[in-house]
Amino acid sequence: MKGLIYTLLLLFMPLVASADNGLRCAKNVFSQPNVRFMHKIKSIHSDAVIGVKGLPNGLQWNARRNLVEGKVKTPGIYTYSITSTIKGQVSEEQIRLTVSDKLAMPLPFMGWLSWNSVEGDVSEAIVKSVADMFRANGLYQAGWNTVMMDDLWQARKRADDGKPLPDPKRFPNGLRTVADYVHAKGMKFGLYTDAANKTCAGAFGSYGYEQIDAEQYAQWDVDIVKCDYCHAPTEQDTAIVRYRRLGDAFKAVARPITLYICEWGDRKPWLWGAEAGGSCWRVSADVRDRWTCEPGGTGVVESIKAMKDIAQYSGVNRFNDADMLCTGLHGKGKSSNDLCFGSPGMTQDEYATQFALWCMWSSPMALSFDPRANTLTKEDLKILTNRHLIALNQDRMGQQADLISETDSLVMFAKDLENGDVALSVTNMSGKLLEATFDFTQIPAFDTNKRYQCRDLWTGEKLSAVKQSFATKVRPHATRMFRLSE
Ligand code: GLA
Repeated sequence: MKGLIYTLLLLFMPLVASADNGLRCAKNVFSQPNVRFMHKIKSIHSDAVIGVKGLPNGLQWNARRNLVEGKVKTPGIYTYSITSTIKGQVSEEQIRLTVSDKLAMPLPFMGWLSWNSVEGDVSEAIVKSVADMFRANGLYQAGWNTVMMDDLWQARKRADDGKPLPDPKRFPNGLRTVADYVHAKGMKFGLYTDAANKTCAGAFGSYGYEQIDAEQYAQWDVDIVKCDYCHAPTEQDTAIVRYRRLGDAFKAVARPITLYICEWGDRKPWLWGAEAGGSCWRVSADVRDRWTCEPGGTGVVESIKAMKDIAQYSGVNRFNDADMLCTGLHGKGKSSNDLCFGSPGMTQDEYATQFALWCMWSSPMALSFDPRANTLTKEDLKILTNRHLIALNQDRMGQQADLISETDSLVMFAKDLENGDVALSVTNMSGKLLEATFDFTQIPAFDTNKRYQCRDLWTGEKLSAVKQSFATKVRPHATRMFRLSE
């Protein structure tokens, strides 16, 4: 009974703590049983001494790095507290840790979304051909596993009984047939809606129809739903309520449906997305097929800006999503190219950089090529099937890489991996070839007394062992990638 009351209390814990104690960390965290877990804690106060109370068995506090780490064996819901002491004043933050082998999204999805190049043409034939292509060109074998329809799959209006309907011309056999096809190919099937009356492109949204929609999606065998936020009130509180309604509706149906939140980072969904029932959330406006797309658009440069300071909020089943990848578009996307007029797309180095960063960040990844145009080249496929990079994106500890240094010309990230290895990236933001030096005193994951084995992740080649620092050359807008192990 006591256990039940405690569990109920936890379930109704307030979404946002009332007084700001300066701690900046995820409050609802997830792990799989026996998989190494990591929870990074930050404070806005440089003099705060951070500590921890009541850790479950298997977890330890790493005081040097301010993080919780370890493995929990038994599935369950656990709590512990993070403490922050400033000038003798102690404040606390309650953390809820769910350890389960049935998490909605233990690893970020690797998939395809129809919007960028297909828009309102999305159809049964297009979805099926993407599933076929994933199998035929080796993407599926490399880990690409989810095919999702974006906006405009819908009929002009709902059925008379309020149920959602797909466009009858483009989906003559209904959506269950499409889902069955994608599932038979070993992949997950997703679709799109909006937390308002209308979607961004004007189709019907799910507001007020959450339960009916969730039931119908379950009957169609849908696995994941991207929920947009056009035509909805701007306040954070309302967004939380609206997404929570969808999250609750998805939980209440017979089939597990994953909630993918898309409100473009405007209301900081990394602070409340997991509490609302989401497993990932967009952090920016729509990505464009461009290195930089200011003003008004998100190129690779702007994605870095959106992601670099929110790493501690990402983790297993709570991923920061940097939006669709433009690899394979080559300037031929529709909306992905509309803001940057005359855009020929990106160079191969720039596409490779986008993929490398999404892997470093453990961001969900959705390709967005048009299967009718077949613009994916051999070079694109080489990038997208690099197993060393995919292993970073799919690392079971789910850590987003931390920014370790940033100048106008070089940006470096370090990513903790489940087996104790550390991945390093350096991106050249400038227009000329540069030499970059990784300085281990700036990377808390390293012991500066130790020597590390080093692998180049683009080539797979083992390099000489390194200690304390190492230097590398990096082409303009390219990214060098390394994996270091003891
Ligand atoms: C918004 C989203 C995009 C896409 C379109 C569809 O702009 O951010 O990813 O879903 O709507 O209309």
